[in-house]
Amino acid sequence: MKPGKTISLLWGLRSFCASHGCLYCYFGTTAEHSVQMPTQLGVLSHLSPNDLTTDQVLAFAATLPDSPVGRVFLAGGEPLLWRPIIKLIEILKAGGLEVVVCTSGVALNRADLRDPLIELGVDAVSVSLDSADPVHNDQWRPPRRDGDGWEAVVCGISALIEARGPAPRPKVGIYSVITRQNLPDILAVPELAATLGCDYAVPQPIALDPGHNLTQTLSLTPEHVPALRRHFDELYAADLPLVLPERTYAGQVAAAVTKPTDLVPGCFGGDTLYFIQPDGTVWDCPSGLKIAATAPERHRTIKDTAARDLFPAPTGCGNDCALFSEDCVNMWPLTSFPVLAPTRPEAPRA
Ligand SMILES: C[S@@+](CC[C@H](N)C(=O)[O-])C[C@H]1O[C@@H](n2cnc3c(N)ncnc32)[C@H](O)[C@@H]1O
Ligand code: SF4
Repeated sequence: MKPGKTISLLWGLRSFCASHGCLYCYFGTTAEHSVQMPTQLGVLSHLSPNDLTTDQVLAFAATLPDSPVGRVFLAGGEPLLWRPIIKLIEILKAGGLEVVVCTSGVALNRADLRDPLIELGVDAVSVSLDSADPVHNDQWRPPRRDGDGWEAVVCGISALIEARGPAPRPKVGIYSVITRQNLPDILAVPELAATLGCDYAVPQPIALDPGHNLTQTLSLTPEHVPALRRHFDELYAADLPLVLPERTYAGQVAAAVTKPTDLVPGCFGGDTLYFIQPDGTVWDCPSGLKIAATAPERHRTIKDTAARDLFPAPTGCGNDCALFSEDCVNMWPLTSFPVLAPTRPEAPRA
């Protein structure tokens, strides 16, 4: 990132996901929310009626170049199936920002959605794929339409890499959600990513509330730590032609699983990283624990607000936070995001 532009935003642009119905999704499932919508602060829903309008989103984006924000991760819901995303990327890239698109990958099969990512100079595209085994992937990431499962995602990745050709951008990577059911995918998905010609791969631990109906089936516990460490060791030993999270990441994942909450000295949340939810609310980070603990006077929105008024120049020292969890671990590969230039040194934790 450019000097003085050291803040990253994780921007959940839209609530709806027309692509998949992932059973563990941070946005919950439409089945459960059509019975009862969540009302707690910061709890996301694919059915939320409160997303900002296109004009509100684009107006805020136009203020970002005049702020310390240097990198924006566009996530969802599914951002690529929201038409104005192309206009949004155009504004962000014209303003000199780095843009990373986080997608389910199916939309990459459409030239009208894929080609503009290359033409507009998107810096990276992170595609979600949980397993080298199509059956496992499609069990937990079921597509909404027949034919949009594992094979379509892999085809989308290949189509983007082929369309990019020898150009240096966008970098293309795979993010996979690791649960107690797919620990070998810590190595197997990056191996697949390397075969496809990807540039990076990130295995990320599943983050579920203790009361979630899949916690007992999917969440990692201390008893999974030896296997977790073994598979990460195999991954780093495999020496794949890919950028991976820094080596300390495996220790962070193990720490999050072993000690669900703990102190993080100098956390990047609220200093070099912020999270925006689809209704425009700005949080220091997407951690449910952190959002619940945020004082009312710090509840802020991007609606009718300029970015420079929301994001002061980072101190670089971060903020001490006593709420370390899997949610935080999933942010580390975003803030250091080594496939592009790092934003700051790795947080001091192993
Ligand atoms: C919410 S999705 C939005 C972008 C896009 N729809 C996608 O699937 O990549 C962003 C990332 O969060 C991951 N994710 C969703 N729910 C999760 C959970 N409970 N724990 C860990 N990662 C999760 C997804 O697999 C995906 O990599
Ligand atoms: S594709 Fe992304 S937003 Fe859609 S349900 Fe899956 S994880 Fe959630």
